[in-house]
Amino acid sequence: MSTHSANTVKVWDPLIRVFHWSLVFFFFLAYITEDDWMTIHSYAGYCIALLVLFRLIWGVIGTAHARFSDFIVAPADVIVYGKQLLHGKAKRYLGHNPAGAAMIVTLLASVTITVVSGVFLYATEGYGPLANTFLSSWSEDFLEEVHESFANFTLLMVAAHAGGVLLSSFLHRENLVRAMVSGRKRKNSHLDEDVSDDHIGEHIGRQS
Ligand code: HEM
Ligand code: HEM
Repeated sequence: MSTHSANTVKVWDPLIRVFHWSLVFFFFLAYITEDDWMTIHSYAGYCIALLVLFRLIWGVIGTAHARFSDFIVAPADVIVYGKQLLHGKAKRYLGHNPAGAAMIVTLLASVTITVVSGVFLYATEGYGPLANTFLSSWSEDFLEEVHESFANFTLLMVAAHAGGVLLSSFLHRENLVRAMVSGRKRKNSHLDEDVSDDHIGEHIGRQS
C-alpha cells in the first residue's frame, strides 16, 4: 500500500520529522565522540540544544499533533494507559499515546540536562562559551559524574523508547518508524477510534 493512499492521513509535519532524525543523529554522534573528538562532541551537543529549543517552541505554535496540548497528560492517565497496555486493551492514537508522551518529556529533559552539564564541564576545563566564568571554580569531578550519568540515563531511555515504539507498532499492526519518515499514518477505523482530539482523562475514564 502506498504511504500516500486515500487510507492514510498526515500526522507528523516535515519539521517534526527533521527534528526527530536530527536529534537521533546528533545524540549518537555526541555519544560516540566523547573520548577523542571534543570539538565534534561539543558541537553535536550545541545542535541538540537548538533542536530542543525548536521543539519547545513548536510544541506551542506547531501543527496539531506536534502541540504539547495534543499529547501531554497527567501522570495518573499514563498509569491508566499502562494498565490498558498490560491487558492488551490499549487504544490506538493518531498522535503520541500517553506512555510515548511521558517518554518524550523524559527524553527532552534528560538530553537538556546532559547538554547543560556538558557545557558546564567544558567550562571547568577552560573551553566553550562559559569558559573563564564563575564555573571555573566548580568541581570538574562532580560535573563529569552528572554529565556521564545523564548521558547514560538518556541512552537507557532511548532503548526503552525504541522498545515502546516496536511494541506499539506490533499491537496496532502499523510501522511507527515509517510514519516518522513519511509523516503519514493509517486513518482510524471504527476499531481504533482516534482519541487525540478528545479529552484524554474523559476518554480513559470511559475505557476502564
Ligand atoms: C546530549 C549530548 C551529549 C552526550 C550524549 C554526551 C555524552 C558524553 C559522555 C558519555 C561522556 C563520557 C563521560 C565520562 O566517561 O566521563 C562525555 C564526556 C564529556 N562531554 Fe559530553 N555529551 C553531550 C554533550 C556535551 C556538550 C554540549 C559538551 C560541551 C559543550 C560536552 C562536553 C563533555 C566533556 C568536556 C566531557 C569530558 C571529556 C573528558 O575530559 O574526558 N558534552 N560526554
Ligand atoms: C533508536 C532509534 C529511534 C527510533 C527507531 C525512534 C522512533 C521514534 C518514533 C517512531 C517516534 C514517534 C512515536 C509515535 O508514533 O508516537 C518517535 C518520537 C520521538 N523520539 Fe524517537 N526514535 C529513536 C531514537 C530517539 C532518540 C535518540 C531520541 C532522543 C534522544 C528520540 C526522541 C524522540 C522524541 C523527542 C520524539 C517525539 C517526536 C516529537 O513529537 O517531537 N528518539 N521516535
